[in-house]
Amino acid sequence: MTETIKLMKAHTSVRRFKEQEIPQADLEEILTAGQMASSWKNFQSYSVIRVRSQEKKDALYELVPQEAIRQSAAFLLFVGDLNRAEKGASLHTDTFQPQGVEGLLITSVDAALAGQNTLLAAESLGYGGVIIGLVRYKSEEVAALFNLPDYTYPVFGIAIGVPDQQHDVKPRLPLSQVVFEEEYQEQPVETVLDYDKVQADYAGARATTSWSQRLAEQFGQAEPRSTRKNLEQKKLL
Ligand SMILES: Cc1cc2nc3c(=O)[nH]c(=O)nc-3n(C[C@H](O)[C@H](O)[C@H](O)COP(=O)(O)O)c2cc1C
Repeated sequence: MTETIKLMKAHTSVRRFKEQEIPQADLEEILTAGQMASSWKNFQSYSVIRVRSQEKKDALYELVPQEAIRQSAAFLLFVGDLNRAEKGASLHTDTFQPQGVEGLLITSVDAALAGQNTLLAAESLGYGGVIIGLVRYKSEEVAALFNLPDYTYPVFGIAIGVPDQQHDVKPRLPLSQVVFEEEYQEQPVETVLDYDKVQADYAGARATTSWSQRLAEQFGQAEPRSTRKNLEQKKLL
């Protein structure tokens, strides 16, 4: 087992932080490491907004009331970004057509890979963090708060800081139910029921809903309006 694999297997999201800064040099190192993630055609179709002022964190917390945001030493907003692409493309063509699913996949995947690299780099230095996807549920307001231009949108944020809590590693689905040999193998509903039990055992008294109930809450209703509306406003849909 390598140190890297050990670190990856020890990951837990951290949502409570000590009132302690992250030195500028550490943050630069973390972000530079994050930036080395692969990206579609090396387009690097994302940007990161580094938020360190308490005022801005508090303003974001008002929109997205996640305690990790206001406690974080730094909040990193990962933005799907085809604004640079528009400028580059305009050197060669009068037509720019970023609208559609492919543009969203390119930007979201690029942002996600850079984000995961960033979180892992932070963890390797002893910091902790949590990805905050709920920023998308207030996409229009978040876009306004951070002055996001056309062809950009918030994908997620990462709250990072010095951990003030420790959890056991959250058990994942059995590998055999996620990794298939040679072709897809649809899983029976029993596998979900089994994982409900695993999750209930892990969460213990903290559990309020089961894993499958959370799936129902997420996918049993139409998507929140703000994500799509903002993408339309930013000319990505
Ligand atoms: C795209 C994405 C969005 C997430 N959004 C949130 C969020 O808004 N709030 C939160 O508390 N956790 C959020 N999480 C963290 C997940 O809940 C967490 O990763 C998952 O439960 C697994 O737990 P672990 O990271 O501790 O292993 C998000 C994770 C991902 C990958």
